Amino acid sequence: MKIKDVKDTIINADSIDIMNQLEEKSVDVIFADPPYNMQLGDTLLRPDNTVVNGVDEEWDSFESLAAYDEYTKKWLSAAKRVLKDDGCLWVIGSYHNIFRVGYILQNLGFWILNDVIWNKTNPMPNFKGTRFTNAHETLIWAIKNPKAKYTFNYEAMKALNDETQMRSIWELPICTGKERLKNEDGEKLHPTQKPEALLYRILLASTKPGDVVLDPFFGTGTTGAVAKKLGRHYVGIERDPSYVEGARERLNNISPIEGTAIEFTCKKKMPRVPFGAVLEHGMLQPGDILTDAKGKHSAVIRSDGSIKSDCAEGSIHQVGAAEQNAAACNGWEYWYYKNGRKLVCIDELRRQIRTEMYGAE
Ligand SMILES: C[S@@+](CC[C@H](N)C(=O)[O-])C[C@H]1O[C@@H](n2cnc3c(N)ncnc32)[C@H](O)[C@@H]1O
Repeated sequence: MKIKDVKDTIINADSIDIMNQLEEKSVDVIFADPPYNMQLGDTLLRPDNTVVNGVDEEWDSFESLAAYDEYTKKWLSAAKRVLKDDGCLWVIGSYHNIFRVGYILQNLGFWILNDVIWNKTNPMPNFKGTRFTNAHETLIWAIKNPKAKYTFNYEAMKALNDETQMRSIWELPICTGKERLKNEDGEKLHPTQKPEALLYRILLASTKPGDVVLDPFFGTGTTGAVAKKLGRHYVGIERDPSYVEGARERLNNISPIEGTAIEFTCKKKMPRVPFGAVLEHGMLQPGDILTDAKGKHSAVIRSDGSIKSDCAEGSIHQVGAAEQNAAACNGWEYWYYKNGRKLVCIDELRRQIRTEMYGAE
């Protein structure tokens, strides 16, 4: 099955079957919210004796943990086949299943980038008072191999978080109010509808406009709703026709954002400046001395822009790494020169050259 034929559609079928038929390496990102296998026992009552609407649907029941593991292995293998080499996978789960999913996913060769805690700001209380309020779910973010060039919109995440680096604990409410899909009786259509805010962060972090996002456990279509809004393509697979119907209606009512609105903050690609340019611009001279910020390590600048210390010679990066016994070093940030009595980082000189030559700030 060609991915272009299923782009922006919801397929009412079994996701393992469908993923096995989809073109190999054809999707950029997979978001999976699989059955949690909650194995709820007795009916749970609130203090006022009303029944708590848990997850007791047939799709969440497995006859044993072994059966759940087998199922997990099958869908994760199918997901890996259909994912592009530089794509990424997100899986969400709770303590019921996430450890098993993580173990199987690692055994299949996936490489974990982060586990993210979704800290629910409005969790359901533990009505019986028998254990801690279960107030979070865990997301695993993984790639197909450690060298994969996955998308991470770092600057956009920082912008979304008021210019502070985004951390792996996300405080977001559960899905309530108008966002929650209802059936004709006014009851929740789906027991585990995820909030759009969660998918917004995930897709903004790890996709580019035009990417294809696959959700093999589509439910009410939260992933599709956010993907469509953000100008990404979706492919949803869901077995239950009533959820498919709800998701289709939901998606029909969404308009994608366009133009400038779809843009996000990216790191500007700065023109490359070799260290030798500092000599050519007469900012430093062959024979001048560079030191680290504390003045503990030093090296002399040679005529070709290489430098030499007591223990190494080569580029500013190679000698910086050798001085620290490190695998790598950004020499521009490591080395300083004396300007009067002050030590100044050589990166300041690079900035001046960029401004002078390219008008870059
Ligand atoms: C945890 S829910 C996903 C909820 C969804 N993220 C949302 O926001 O509405 C899991 C969904 O996967 C569906 N499902 C379970 N096994 C499936 C399978 N093998 N193929 C397709 N859908 C499946 C269930 O019907 C259920 O709607």
